[in-house]
Amino acid sequence: MARLETASATRQSASPGTGPVAELFAKGFRCFQAGRLVEAMDLYQRALVADPRHSGCLHHLGLIGLQLGRPEIAVDMIGRAIALNETNATLHHDICFALIALNRNADAATHARRAIALKPDYTNAYLLLGDAFLKLRKLDEAIAAYRQALAREPNHAEAHNNLAEALFAQGHLDEAAQHFKEALRLRPDLATAYSNLATINFLAGDIPGALNVIMQGLQIKETALLKTTFVTYLHHATSIPDSGTLRQYVVRALSEPWGRPGTITTACITLVKCDPRIKHGIDRAVAAWPARLSCEELFGSDGLHAAAGDPVLRALLQNTYINDIPLERFLTLARSALLDAATATGATDDADDTILTFCCTLARQCFINEYVFACTADEQAKVAMLRDQVAGALRSGAPVAALPLAIIASYEPLYSIPGFEALLAKSWSGEIADLLTQQVREPLAERGLRKSIPQLTPIENDVSRLVQNQYEESPYPRWVKCAPDEVTHTVDARLRSDFPHAPYVPMGRADGLDVLIAGCGTGQQAVMTARRYAGARILAVDLSLSSLCYAKYRTDALGLNNIDYGQADILKLASIGRHFDLIACSGVLHHLADPLEGWRVLLSILRPNGIMHIALYSKLARAHVVAARDFLAARGYAATIDDIRRYRQDILDLDETSPARAIAWSGDFYTASNCRDLLFHVQEHQFTLPQIKTFLADNGLNLLGFEHDADVLLRYRAQFLDDSACTDLDHWHAYEQQHPHTFVRMYQFTVQKRT
Ligand SMILES: C[S@@+](CC[C@H](N)C(=O)[O-])C[C@H]1O[C@@H](n2cnc3c(N)ncnc32)[C@H](O)[C@@H]1O
Repeated sequence: MARLETASATRQSASPGTGPVAELFAKGFRCFQAGRLVEAMDLYQRALVADPRHSGCLHHLGLIGLQLGRPEIAVDMIGRAIALNETNATLHHDICFALIALNRNADAATHARRAIALKPDYTNAYLLLGDAFLKLRKLDEAIAAYRQALAREPNHAEAHNNLAEALFAQGHLDEAAQHFKEALRLRPDLATAYSNLATINFLAGDIPGALNVIMQGLQIKETALLKTTFVTYLHHATSIPDSGTLRQYVVRALSEPWGRPGTITTACITLVKCDPRIKHGIDRAVAAWPARLSCEELFGSDGLHAAAGDPVLRALLQNTYINDIPLERFLTLARSALLDAATATGATDDADDTILTFCCTLARQCFINEYVFACTADEQAKVAMLRDQVAGALRSGAPVAALPLAIIASYEPLYSIPGFEALLAKSWSGEIADLLTQQVREPLAERGLRKSIPQLTPIENDVSRLVQNQYEESPYPRWVKCAPDEVTHTVDARLRSDFPHAPYVPMGRADGLDVLIAGCGTGQQAVMTARRYAGARILAVDLSLSSLCYAKYRTDALGLNNIDYGQADILKLASIGRHFDLIACSGVLHHLADPLEGWRVLLSILRPNGIMHIALYSKLARAHVVAARDFLAARGYAATIDDIRRYRQDILDLDETSPARAIAWSGDFYTASNCRDLLFHVQEHQFTLPQIKTFLADNGLNLLGFEHDADVLLRYRAQFLDDSACTDLDHWHAYEQQHPHTFVRMYQFTVQKRT
């Protein structure tokens, strides 16, 4: 997109003049230039009361509308200014911005042409003409317009960048890369050029190259776009260019975080394994499995120091769960070896700092994965002994050493030690204090919230009660950190940018949006929505009070105050007397006795033109889940932590080619409640795209689009050139048959209710 150059845009209309109106305008202009937009608006409006035909005021109010993210106001105001002064090229140029923001690209092109007719050397008008054509997917015309801009200003960085985008869309990747590079030579801070150049590397299969380009960009300016792109390509990386710079960015991407930490776990683990000392330990664990090893046998002379001192491993263990079997085996044996060492020698506070650090980090991981690692009877007995010793010390007031606490915490939460409250009264080192926060303070605080969450509907349906029970015991999904703040958009702007070619009818709601998160679970989606739409009023409901407390605790900790949590059954939501502009229901409806009944209830409380984000299981993509469930049913496992641990190890013992073994590829295999949700669910339906198509048609819903990785969309577009909006469900059905894993993370899609 071209940039709006307000300084030059305003110069023309900031004509001097005398009298009170001119004075108000001049004052308003000074405020406008100083960025005091509300004051400027007030002054311009007062001037307009005196002189409704003041085109300068109209123009500037339009520019303020643009700066405040209200392009519809800009179109209205600047349109009125044009009606008074049709030959002002700047006005035609500026209205283009607003029209493009509203996706009225054909109108934008008309105004850009008019600006060019009035001022043939108007480079930026050519740029906007190109942008309008680019959005209309008229690529030849866009390229011609950008070349015209460059003919007038060969060093126009954005013209190079946008020309490159158009060339890129046409598949001329080499020429596009040259123009992106030229854009960056001229404007090294052009974040979009780095991310586009990285995409070209990515498409050419050069992920290390893509990451290097992003890192160059990050070194110049750390923008949200570059951080997100870094995470996206790291997610796809199979080989990693190990370097100190990359490691630094990886640690930040995991711990700040720059995206969902879980999406980059695999790449980070690859990086961890680049250290031969850690890699040897992993190899020894895998070779010995399931036998336990001593510290010396497992770590060798330097493995423990290497593991304890690796910032990437540390960030991984503290911020997400490990989804790699060899590393899991290494950590499982490490835990057992450290337990052995501590119980053999009698653990004291003299423990080496390295050992204590590693034990604390490992304990953080074990709490995150809900103690899903395999555990022998011998280990259980030794932990029970340590727990009794610590409980005894707490009772008698004797000192409690740090190491046994850290070791217990890697086998069970510290709140399971009798008298654990006394731990909070003592003073501890930072690492133990952090463990106490994770395993005592936070769980206690969550429990304390139970009374604060209102019950909005009864829960009477038999299946709802069963499902409630499951999630009371195992809230899902547990999360440590949420993806970064997103820029606050209006729903209209957001949907236009997500689904530029979809048949979307703008809702025109800038603030005061009513949002329902139906089946909010542990609150991640509610938090993300609250950050995205800051002025929204969000109601987030779920059957499970434990999940709601988990959600509320984290919401409060993040300082978000526009989410209300309530306990409710979707089936009864029509009774609460509220209606919504946006409803999100992700991974929920397929757990109802009749998912379509629940979906219809949600539709009944969605306003006309309202939006729904839905995610449903795909029957085709879950074939491996069915195989794993059959294996589970045949062996009669129960949904207890012991059986989940046993089940996981039995699955891993299967031949690699067994269909059930493929379940280990699922991220949900790696924590206890995720495993329960994945394989031990009390109620699960699966869908096909033809079924969804029928429901949408029968219920007056327009599909706006799916949520996908960029590579899926690129492949789909290349195959179905006639579906520029990417919303043809017959095509998607055909595509899914060819690529059965496409919807392995569910059919995640957005629909709009027709009036
Ligand atoms: C798989 S979790 C998904 C949680 C959340 N939507 C997410 O994506 O992180 C399913 C959630 O739906 C909730 N749920 C299932 N049936 C429900 C119903 N009838 N009414 C309200 N919530 C329900 C469960 O309690 C559970 O927390």
